[in-house]
Amino acid sequence: MQLEGRTCLVTGGAGRIGRATARLFLEHGARVMLVDLKAADLERACAGLDPERTAWAEADVTNAASVRRAVEATVDRWGRIDVLFSNAGNFGVVRPISDYPDEVFDAVYAVHVKGAYLLCKHAVPHMNDGGSIVINSSVAGTRGDPGVYAYITAKHAQVGLMRCLAKELAPRRIRANTIHPGPIDNGFQLAVEQDLGNIIGRDGTEFFNQIIPLGRHGSPDEIARSVLYLASSQSSFTTGAMLMVDGGMSA
Ligand SMILES: NC(=O)c1ccc[n+]([C@@H]2O[C@H](COP(=O)([O-])OP(=O)(O)OC[C@H]3O[C@@H](n4cnc5c(N)ncnc54)[C@H](O)[C@@H]3O)[C@@H](O)[C@H]2O)c1
Repeated sequence: MQLEGRTCLVTGGAGRIGRATARLFLEHGARVMLVDLKAADLERACAGLDPERTAWAEADVTNAASVRRAVEATVDRWGRIDVLFSNAGNFGVVRPISDYPDEVFDAVYAVHVKGAYLLCKHAVPHMNDGGSIVINSSVAGTRGDPGVYAYITAKHAQVGLMRCLAKELAPRRIRANTIHPGPIDNGFQLAVEQDLGNIIGRDGTEFFNQIIPLGRHGSPDEIARSVLYLASSQSSFTTGAMLMVDGGMSA
C-alpha cells in the first residue's frame, strides 16, 4: 500500500498507460482523479474501479481554464493533491524537415509541453509538501529519429520542465522526475510504427524490436510500476531524474 490515502491526478487518464497507472495507484490505496478529453472515454476507463476513490474530469490539458477546473474538482472532492502524473499525449506525424506541418508541430507541443506546464502551474499550489510529480516523456526524449520533429523535441522539452520543477520545489520536498518508456505494445505506438514504416520502407514494429536490447515492446503495466516507484516514497531521494523504462533502447 505505497500510496495509502494519497490523492493523485492522472492526465491522459482514459488512455492505456493512464488507465494501467490509475489501477495500480488504486491497488496501493490512492484516490485517483482521471483527466482526459472525453467524458465517454473517462466513464469507460472508470468502469469497475472503486467509485469512492475514483473520479474523472473532462479537460483539455492545452487549455488553462480547463486544467484549472480539473484541479479544482480534485481539491473539492478530496482536498490537497499528493501526486501529479502528467501523461496526456499525442504523436503528430513523421515527415522530412522541409515538409513538416507547422500546425502539427504546434499541436504536439501544446499537449506535451504546454499541457505539462499548465498542469504543474495550476496544481502545485494545491500540493502537499513531500508530494511527487511524474512527467511521462519517452525514450524519444533522449534520442533523435528521422522525421519525428514534433514528438521528439517536445519529449526533450519535458525534461527541461522537470529539471526546473525539481529545483524550485525541493524546499517543499516535492520531487519531480520524468519517466521514459520505450515502445509500448499499444495502439499509440502501432500508429507511430505504421507512419515510420512508410518513411523507412520496412516494418516499423520490427525496426523497433531490433533496436531494443530486450527485443520486445513494453506493456502499460510495466510503465505503471515504474510510475508508482517515482510517485511513492520508495524513491524518496530521487528528484530531477530521468528514469528509463525502455528495454535498454537508450543504452
Ligand atoms: N505508447 C508508447 O509506446 C509510448 C512510449 C513512450 C511514451 N509514451 C507516452 O505515454 C503517454 C500515454 O500514452 P499511451 O501510450 O497511453 O497512449 P494513449 O493514446 O492510449 O493515451 C493518451 C491519452 O492522452 C489523451 N490526450 C491527448 N490529448 C489530450 C489533451 N489535450 N488533454 C487531455 N488528454 C489528452 C488521449 O485522449 C489519450 O487518452 C503519452 O504522453 C505518450 O507520449 C507512450
